[in-house]
Amino acid sequence: MPSSLPEFVLPMPAEDFLREYWQKQPLFMPAAASGLDSPDADTLAGLALEDGVEARIIEGAGNGPWSLTQGPLEETVFDGLGEENWTLLVQSVDHFLTETSLLLDCFNFLPNWRLEDIMMSYATRGGSVGPHFDRYDVFLIQASGTRRWQIGQVSDDNSPRQPHPDLKLLSEMAVEEEFVARPGDVLYLPPGVAHHGVAEDSDCITWSVGFRAPDYQMLMAEIAGECLAEADSELFSDPQRTITDNPAVLADADRQQLVRGALDLLNPEAIERAVYRWLSTPRQDGLEFAVDDHHIRMRDGQIALVRHGSTRLLMQGNRVWLNGEAHSLTEKQRPLVHLLASQRRYTQHELEAVMTDTAQELLHEWIEQGYFAPL
Ligand code: SIN
Ligand code: CO
Repeated sequence: MPSSLPEFVLPMPAEDFLREYWQKQPLFMPAAASGLDSPDADTLAGLALEDGVEARIIEGAGNGPWSLTQGPLEETVFDGLGEENWTLLVQSVDHFLTETSLLLDCFNFLPNWRLEDIMMSYATRGGSVGPHFDRYDVFLIQASGTRRWQIGQVSDDNSPRQPHPDLKLLSEMAVEEEFVARPGDVLYLPPGVAHHGVAEDSDCITWSVGFRAPDYQMLMAEIAGECLAEADSELFSDPQRTITDNPAVLADADRQQLVRGALDLLNPEAIERAVYRWLSTPRQDGLEFAVDDHHIRMRDGQIALVRHGSTRLLMQGNRVWLNGEAHSLTEKQRPLVHLLASQRRYTQHELEAVMTDTAQELLHEWIEQGYFAPL
């Protein structure tokens, strides 16, 4: 009997969670998730070997030493590993396994643009990625096996680190709380909280629902790129120049003209475009992977259409951004697209309620391009 699709339910009203815990303090939520039996360890290991999938292996336990094998991984990498003390990490599993991505609908109490991806780890007994902190919010969902979580101090880039060239491991962690996570248990951690999770058996799979917190430096770079892409090259000019009495300095008027000329390139429409383009671009493009439609259909017979796991949608008035590209919508297309952007699975009934001729055409196009899949 196949289990249901992955699901997470907050054990309190979302307003209470946001007020008391979100970005503030950790929360351990026993038995808050279900339907986490797929992918199993073998499927995850197979995915880790696929082209374009970001994967790594961390070996080590206790006080180290720690070693990192960065992907792309070869099949032989598993031969060299012992029975214990290693972890395989696979990034953006939701992009490749659409069934997994359906869990993300359970986080609809937050805006979709805030979600990044689902990373998964498979660890053998003693396996861990070492004591560290993440810069992003994360929900750590135990899918199988048992993991002991130790929670420590709030840390930042100035916190003392172990001298490893590639792994950012904390050298000190004052354990403030400890939880043993079993299948279905969920640990929410805000950014910066030190944590160390050690597998207690060799069947330990943990899903990390990670959030996107745009880095303003990177956002500025995107904005500059978008503004410059459409700007004509214009040079400073000074046909009204009068004789200078101090050739050694940059006169105020010249400085102001230079700065104004550069800042004028910051066109408000291009700035908005940069923001929407960035927030609607998936972390990885996994469109060449098929939708696991059979699995999904077996687990929920009501679903008529699913969004591919690597399709990101963001509404902007009468436009929608789909994986970094803007599409103008007619009045008759907007209700369908709003539905498509609000959730990841759709029943026949939901689709019929918003379907028109032109909406159907657009949906067909997106199905052909692989952004959605009928079941
Ligand atoms: C893991 O799944 O092993 C590590 C996840 C984390 O600590 O962020
Ligand atoms: Co972490």
